[in-house]
Parts: sequence; structure tokens; C-alpha cells
Amino acid sequence: MAVNVSELLACPQCKGAIRRQSDQAYVCTECSRLSPVVDGFVDMIREPGKPDPAAPTTAQKMMESKLYVSLYEAVGRPFFARLFAGFGNAIPSYAEEFRIYSDWLKLDESRGGAWLDLSCGGGYFTDKMAGAVPEATVVGLDISEEMLRSARKETVGRTNVSLVRGDVRGLPFADETFDGVNNPGSLHLYADPAAAYREVFRLLKPGGVYTASTFAINERTSSRLGVKATGIRRTDLSALPGELEKTGFVNYRLVKFGSIFAFAVTKP
Ligand SMILES: C[S@@+](CC[C@H](N)C(=O)[O-])C[C@H]1O[C@@H](n2cnc3c(N)ncnc32)[C@H](O)[C@@H]1O
Repeated sequence: MAVNVSELLACPQCKGAIRRQSDQAYVCTECSRLSPVVDGFVDMIREPGKPDPAAPTTAQKMMESKLYVSLYEAVGRPFFARLFAGFGNAIPSYAEEFRIYSDWLKLDESRGGAWLDLSCGGGYFTDKMAGAVPEATVVGLDISEEMLRSARKETVGRTNVSLVRGDVRGLPFADETFDGVNNPGSLHLYADPAAAYREVFRLLKPGGVYTASTFAINERTSSRLGVKATGIRRTDLSALPGELEKTGFVNYRLVKFGSIFAFAVTKP
């Protein structure tokens, strides 16, 4: 049975419980911080009357532009996947990619609980997750309002989806909220992926699975200058299992498509 998103949320300021105040806002029961409801998503970043934080990098500015978001799923994502995988390497289709996450997360119709599509972008995987676990609640979270507007259209009619605007640097959920967290195609945009692993670990219930995909450093890539100019940070694949283990995760699994890779780990 899908739950109301207010039961999953926690105040990004004081970690207090959140309740729905009206159709237009949610409120923290401890510090009274208001979170507006905008275009079908709860905005846990914007505070009424305060300026919104600016996108920190060129890549993130794209993720917030109307034009790029309108082309994202049909053109932008497949193009960058080919580019970063290394042209000539086969990359999985959207459906094949979803099957990888779905198998690792063990999504099926019998599963209830709550599932997070972290940095959900235009909502393709949020929609597929919601279809795979119709008895559960699926939350799509992103920092980009434009992506969330696109995700709302993608998931229209899915009564078990809630969309939340939030920041991976401090996710607005209580500890041990989610049965699984899916995080495709996004780690390369985060300033501190290791901090994201720690946030995901905090949010997972014991036994919960974390799946993600991103690009690996290869011999031709990843100058510091490139990271500074674009904001895209590739992962050192040789160091990844150790980092995840240091966070507390176990049972590391990996699949590679050229320089693109997907992995899964479990919270014991
Ligand atoms: C390349 S898109 C991937 C979207 C989707 N998961 C997919 O696989 O198609 C990366 C997403 O990460 C989001 N993102 C970047 N920085 C973030 C942050 N600090 N917190 C939450 N999401 C963030 C962007 O807004 C963007 O929607």
C-alpha cells in the first residue's frame, strides 16, 4: 500500500517530522520550516521568500535548462552515454538498463515499502520502478525543477509516485526509510560522491540495496581542468569497492559497458 510522502520526509534543516499543511505546502512539526508544493512536487530546497541556490557547474546548468531537459531522454542521455562509454562500445537500451537495476533491487509485484529514484531526471526509471512495485511508494528526487516537471509528465497516472526536490548533500528523509535506492547516471555530477554514498547508506533499511551507474576514469580522460570546466567527475573504478566498503556496504556487484558501469551494494 503506497504511503503519503510526508511519512517519509524529514526537515532538511532540523530533521524534524513533516506534515502536509495544505495543497500548497508541507511544514516541519519542529522548526515550522515551510516547503512549497510546486508543479506537482514538494520543494524541500526552496524556502518561501528566499532566493533559490544557483546551479554550481556548467553540466548542472544544462540539467536545469528547459531546452536540454526537453531533449534529454531522446537525445541528450543516449548521446552522452555513447560519448562517455567510448564510441564503438555497445551501451544498453533504456529497457536493458532498467532490467539490470530491477534484478539487483529485486523489484517485483509482491514488494511493498518505499523506494527512491535518486536524481530521477526526466523520470524514466521512476516510472518503470513504480510499474514494477505497484504496491509500494516510489519517490523520484532531483535538484532540477525542470527535470521534475518532466518526471511529473513521465509518471502521470502513477498513483504510487511522489516527486520531491532535494539535494543529495542532505537528503530530506528520515534514517532507514527506503527498501532500495536507484541512482542511475548521476554520480558524475555530484561534487562529493563519497558523501552521497553515506547519505544513501543512512536512508536505506538494513538489507536494502543501492544501485547506481556512472562513467569510469580511463587513460584518456579526467584532467582536473576538465572537471573544473564541465563539472563532470569520472569515478576511479579501482578505488570504488573500497570506498563503498568504508561506507559500510557489502556485496559489491559490477557490470561494464566500455567506460560506463553500473554497480550494486547492500546495507547489511
Ligand atoms: C544525467 S541526469 C540522470 C537522470 C536519470 N537518473 C537518468 O538516469 O536518466 C543527472 C541528474 O542528477 C541531478 N543532480 C545533480 N546534482 C544533484 C544534487 N546535488 N542533488 C540531487 N540531484 C542532483 C540533475 O539535476 C540531473 O537530473
